[in-house]
Amino acid sequence: MAQYIKTIAVTGGAGFIGSHVIRLFVTKYPAYRIVNIDALTYAGNLENLRDIDRLPNYIFEHADICNEQQMDQLFGKYAFDGVIHLAAESHVDRSIMDPLAFVKTNVLGTAVLLNTCRKYWNDDYSNKLFYHVSTDEVYGSLGETGFFTEETPYDPRSPYSASKASSDHMVMAYYHTYTLPAVISNCSNNYGSHHFPEKLIPLMINNIKNNKPLPVYGKGENVRDWLWVEDHARAIDTIFHKGRAGETYNIGGYNEWKNIDLVKLLCAIMDTKLGRPKGESEKLITYVKDRSGHDLRYAIDATKLNNELGWKPSLQFEEGLEKTVNWYLQNQEWINHVTSGQYQQFYADQYVKR
Ligand code: NAD
Ligand code: TYD
Repeated sequence: MAQYIKTIAVTGGAGFIGSHVIRLFVTKYPAYRIVNIDALTYAGNLENLRDIDRLPNYIFEHADICNEQQMDQLFGKYAFDGVIHLAAESHVDRSIMDPLAFVKTNVLGTAVLLNTCRKYWNDDYSNKLFYHVSTDEVYGSLGETGFFTEETPYDPRSPYSASKASSDHMVMAYYHTYTLPAVISNCSNNYGSHHFPEKLIPLMINNIKNNKPLPVYGKGENVRDWLWVEDHARAIDTIFHKGRAGETYNIGGYNEWKNIDLVKLLCAIMDTKLGRPKGESEKLITYVKDRSGHDLRYAIDATKLNNELGWKPSLQFEEGLEKTVNWYLQNQEWINHVTSGQYQQFYADQYVKR
């Protein structure tokens, strides 16, 4: 054990973004021991880490962040130097169906982790860091213009964003009250490989491939700022190592797309990949009932992260989207696994009745 200079807990490491963060850290920092703490909910899948799970500096622990005894036991076992906290319920539509599940995991789970850090780090906060991974959705909804900065007041409007905003406040409360070293980043929508197909981009890719209707909410005019997931993982690496405790950093792609334009772009890419006549997949677009309280627009101003820590997005959207489509086309087995069982019920509840 002596060969490791740091032991870092990554919560939610079997999920979409967490698996990219783990892959980056275990390969880039062989002298760090990375412990993935994940409850393996419907969104967690150890297949996401198959390519790196035999590396000696990677360990998986099946545990629930809401469970105080389990967290206590893991902190006792590993003496973590840092926590990168991604575990969460993350899908807005599910939060509308079952808000309390989001309060439990996102608010209570974060508080349990903070409390456990405080207990184990209380005597010595030097070289310790609690890194909370959050979302731009805490800022609410923008009109046609403007950007979210770190000074934008919180105005969450969905049970998901309200639970993430609450967790952000708990993190800052621990920083101010107990001086627990903590940092928060608020990121825009991510896309890339291993993204669960309940979210817009992977759902559309999967449905286009299977000639199923493409459910666009409302008029498809809502705008999201899309960031390549590996750029998010790089930003987390940068902030974990260079960010200042007590600070918040916004992360975004400077890449705004109306949902309908994005879906049409995906259709065009898929027509080419699948050898379909131009315009064929667009015929699958189906406008469905809008999401309740649907935020109109998110857009991040990431100037602070760029100016202070030197991070900026690396990939052009068209290139990233093509890589993403290729990954889904080459990984049908992964899609089959994650869309079997419980996914079918979710899909029926969410779309068939709409
Ligand atoms: P995800 O839903 O793909 O993965 C969540 C992971 O957390 C899963 O592996 C799941 O098993 C695990 N988990 C859930 N409840 C748990 C519990 N009680 N104990 C332990 N593990 C648990 O989510 P994601 O899209 O990878 O998002 C990760 C984080 O990033 C979240 O905190 C989310 O709010 C934030 N975020 C996501 C996006 C995005 O576009 N996806 C953007 C900004 C911020
Ligand atoms: P989503 O991927 O759920 O991310 P978020 O709601 O956290 O931004 O949705 C992205 C956008 O796409 C959002 O405006 C809702 C819309 N959307 C659809 O139009 N149809 C769908 O089937 C899904 C899942 C989302």
